[in-house]
Amino acid sequence: KKVVVFISGGGSNMIALAKAAAAADFPADIIAVVADKVDAGGLDKAAGLGIPTFSFARRDFASKEAHEAAIVDELDRLQPDIICLAGYMRLLSAAFIQRYEGRILNIHPSLLPLFPGLHTHQRAIDAGMRIAGCTVHFVTEGMDDGPIVAQAAVPVMSGDTADSLAARVLTVEHATYPMALRLVAEGKVRMEAGRAVSHAIRE
Ligand code: GRF
Repeated sequence: KKVVVFISGGGSNMIALAKAAAAADFPADIIAVVADKVDAGGLDKAAGLGIPTFSFARRDFASKEAHEAAIVDELDRLQPDIICLAGYMRLLSAAFIQRYEGRILNIHPSLLPLFPGLHTHQRAIDAGMRIAGCTVHFVTEGMDDGPIVAQAAVPVMSGDTADSLAARVLTVEHATYPMALRLVAEGKVRMEAGRAVSHAIRE
């Protein structure tokens, strides 16, 4: 399966996906990295791994629609089977999501449905949570509310700050996203009628 990864920042999840996909038995290849910032740190890292990169600065386009249309044009050339959002900080339009419905994954740094949106670690600490974690889900038109593919939990330690908790969650993100992508690329988990459905694949 051909995968395009979308980033906005450092791309540590993209790196984790690229490293996992480099294994011969992994059912997907990362064929390109797309960024909505020309200075996204992950672009250099992707290039260093020999992965083609494409960046689209929002300010170069007259509108959100034109910006996204440029990205879609590139995707039409790349023809990905799966899109992985990884630290991508821009909402996709309903038209984009419908076009790729069931084939877009995102990783969110909380145990959804708890704490959709931003500042998830501070909110978990403020709520007195004793566990936190990450969620890989299919992307739907709502924000952070698509069917869940995989989750991982970590303890919240006394004295944790948002940064210390974020670091602990990021570590399990890097294991959880490749595992989730493998399940989807192998067809073991599919989005059907708005739900993530597991299929035991006959060997
Ligand atoms: C991570 O917390 C991820 O869960 C969120 O963006 C943050 C940075 O991700 N989506 P990355 O290092 O850019 O992959």
